[in-house]
Amino acid sequence: MKIVSIGGGPAGLYFSILMKKAYPDAEITVYERNRADDTFGFGVVFSDATLGNFIEADAETHRQIVAQFAHWDDIDIHFKGQVLTSTGHGFSGFDRKTLLNILQHRAADLGVDLRFETDIDDVEAVADCDLVLAADGVNSQIRDRYAEHFQPDIDWRSNRFVWLGTTMEFPAFTFLFKENEHGLWRVHAYRYKPGYSTFILECTGDTFDRSGLAVEDEDATVAYAEALFAEELDGHRLIGNRSHWRQFPTIRNGHWHHRNIVLMGDAVHTAHYSIGSGTKLAMEDAIALSEAIQNHDDIATALDAYEADRREDVESTQRSAQVSLQWFEETERYYDRLDPIQFGFSLLTRSLRISHENLRLRDPGYVRSIDTWFAERAANQSGVNVRTDPPPPPMFTPFRLRDMVVPNRIVVSPMCQYSADDGTIDDWHLVHLGSRAMGGAGLVMTEMTDVSREGRITHGCAGMYKDEHVVAWSRVVDFVHRHSEARIGMQLAHAGRKASTRLGWEGNDLPLNDDENPWPAIAPSAIPYTPQNQVPREMTRADMDQVRDDHVRAAGLAEAAGFDMLELHCAHGYLMSTFLSPLTNRRDDDYGGSMENRLRYPLEVFDAVRAAWPEGKPISVRISATDWRPDGFSAADAVAVAVALKAHGCDIVDVSAGQVVADQAPVYGRLFQTPFADRVRLEAEIPTMTVGNISTYEDVNSILAAGRADLCVLARAHLYDPYWTRHAAKQQGYDQPWPKQYGMIDRYEPRF
Ligand SMILES: Cc1cc2nc3c(=O)[nH]c(=O)nc-3n(C[C@H](O)[C@H](O)[C@H](O)COP(=O)(O)OP(=O)(O)OC[C@H]3O[C@@H](n4cnc5c(N)ncnc54)[C@H](O)[C@@H]3O)c2cc1C
Ligand SMILES: Cc1cc2nc3c(=O)[nH]c(=O)nc-3n(C[C@H](O)[C@H](O)[C@H](O)COP(=O)(O)O)c2cc1C
Repeated sequence: MKIVSIGGGPAGLYFSILMKKAYPDAEITVYERNRADDTFGFGVVFSDATLGNFIEADAETHRQIVAQFAHWDDIDIHFKGQVLTSTGHGFSGFDRKTLLNILQHRAADLGVDLRFETDIDDVEAVADCDLVLAADGVNSQIRDRYAEHFQPDIDWRSNRFVWLGTTMEFPAFTFLFKENEHGLWRVHAYRYKPGYSTFILECTGDTFDRSGLAVEDEDATVAYAEALFAEELDGHRLIGNRSHWRQFPTIRNGHWHHRNIVLMGDAVHTAHYSIGSGTKLAMEDAIALSEAIQNHDDIATALDAYEADRREDVESTQRSAQVSLQWFEETERYYDRLDPIQFGFSLLTRSLRISHENLRLRDPGYVRSIDTWFAERAANQSGVNVRTDPPPPPMFTPFRLRDMVVPNRIVVSPMCQYSADDGTIDDWHLVHLGSRAMGGAGLVMTEMTDVSREGRITHGCAGMYKDEHVVAWSRVVDFVHRHSEARIGMQLAHAGRKASTRLGWEGNDLPLNDDENPWPAIAPSAIPYTPQNQVPREMTRADMDQVRDDHVRAAGLAEAAGFDMLELHCAHGYLMSTFLSPLTNRRDDDYGGSMENRLRYPLEVFDAVRAAWPEGKPISVRISATDWRPDGFSAADAVAVAVALKAHGCDIVDVSAGQVVADQAPVYGRLFQTPFADRVRLEAEIPTMTVGNISTYEDVNSILAAGRADLCVLARAHLYDPYWTRHAAKQQGYDQPWPKQYGMIDRYEPRF
């Protein structure tokens, strides 16, 4: 077998080692344009878990690596004159040059042909072999040459960073945050060998511009940073090594191989340095590719297997890296608004890899302090006494909205049941909502409940437009109040252009046929949801008056039924949401055009409902914080809307996303909508609820303790398990009282 590697970084060298071990007769050549001892940067960092992966692959390199690394457990966060320390993190810092030297020597000893100072500018000149490794790093020329096949996506991030070193030995993995007249500076620093630390300095593009530093003026950068961090450097100097200011590219590729050429390491994917995974990913690629070749008869199948095997892991790491890099792009938001302890928790849990629960295992002291701090704040905010010794998990603290206090932070999300008759709900809804209230959630929301017959999505949607509805809903409300601690809210809506469609299980958003009693839909503009949906009639001012008055009537009926809270549904492409989005609102009157105009009608409805709803009862508004389209409603619009809603007396914003237009490009994942709730909460300074792929109590506690939202809303998790909150209490050892009828459960141990 003949193999060529273009690039002698960690990816190319480690793969060559593993292949030479598996196939001693293989002819492997590594071409590296630099000299053996050249390297940019200083140290790299590996977590303990990463190092474990290398033992099996090649015990010899692992032995040499661990013999030389600097190990530490603590993370120090320097923030406004305080140092917060969290322990139990297990990292190793390592000299990048030593790592390359270990890999080079090991490769040479095994018989790999290493050709330094050899720049391969034409891959075809060396491609006559079984396999060509495009391990040529972040600026891969091979990837660019075959861009048509690899389909690279390079996302240049906005922050600027420079990789420096220092003779200061930081005692822990250290984050420094410091503000000067130019802006806020972040430093990621860690020891990587005796007497040396890496010192990565980062800031926003605006701060960089204000600083007047030039991209390539290393001396000025070193002098500037030395002066700024003189106290933290304690008399030590900073060291440059081709230390130019850069922007980080997040690289992804549609295909990882073409013919016999395969991309590896930074050439195929990058993961932001704030999660310290670039070298790990490169070396894990090497392990996966060498195993794929050993497990398959031909190279083509092995390359398919390598890509299939690695893609999921890499994408998961890239998702963590993405939220982490965004945290550093948006640090100003947290720096100005969070208390030190919460700022630290937000930083530690930023990438979603460390949750409240993992941190509790690593560092029980830190989590106890944040839980105590959180419980004290909850007690002050709600006016309810909260025990702090020991403090409850954040999810089991109360929260007040006007006169309503929810006993915990879990909300059952509105979920259409399509089981009503002319808006009248039946026993299904009593059992459905009643069991979820018994299941321990603090707040149960009704499904989207329509303010008029024409405002329904389907024939089966629930309504609040006639007296009979009050009778039916009162049964549910009374049950919830009598048999649980939960509060109950009603989500009021008008379906707008999504009206007159089939029941959910007959095909979402599919229009009714002529023989199925369809009715005309209305919307801000006459644009159908999809070409097959009805073209809605553009609303006149008279329609707007009617719909507003329907909302007011519904609010009155909800009060008569005894609801504790209302939510105005301004999300998911229903009527109010289509006023907000520029993609669905093309009006040229006072209700279309600018954000201010598009918000005018939803605000008018909000004001009318607010005036009709008792002063002591809260109202929330659910919004889609993005249309998932570059030309649509954006997160910045969501902040502007939340600021206006707050000024009009909205108590909390329920931050959802999307479903406004059919051709959206959502980015799904765990907690994928939480960043919007976080941003709205801090920038509009209004409480938020977050929803979307929240399924574990660990995530709930993390979200709350980090201040990303005030309430956590779970939909499908509650369909699966109506007793989700009780089960979460049990798992956390928290004593949530059961209804007296079920009192014996206190002495029952469930087994599955
Ligand atoms: C500021 C910063 C901090 C980082 N910190 C960490 C960290 O803490 N932990 C971590 O794991 N990772 C870290 N990384 C990432 C890490 O350095 C890379 O992910 C890793 O080096 C990728 O290995 P690679 O082999 O794919 O690419 P590289 O290490 O870039 O190697 C590619 C090699 O190919 C050579 N080459 C390119 N083109 C040619 C050609 N035409 N002919 C011959 N040779 C060529 C280059 O000279 C280079 O040596 C950091 C990166 C940055 C920018
Ligand atoms: C069956 C079902 C019905 C839903 N009906 C509504 C609704 O009536 N109003 C609403 O705002 N969202 C509705 N949604 C969206 C959910 O409230 C929630 O925002 C979404 O499912 C994401 O949360 P999850 O990941 O916890 O399921 C519905 C979701 C489901 C699964």
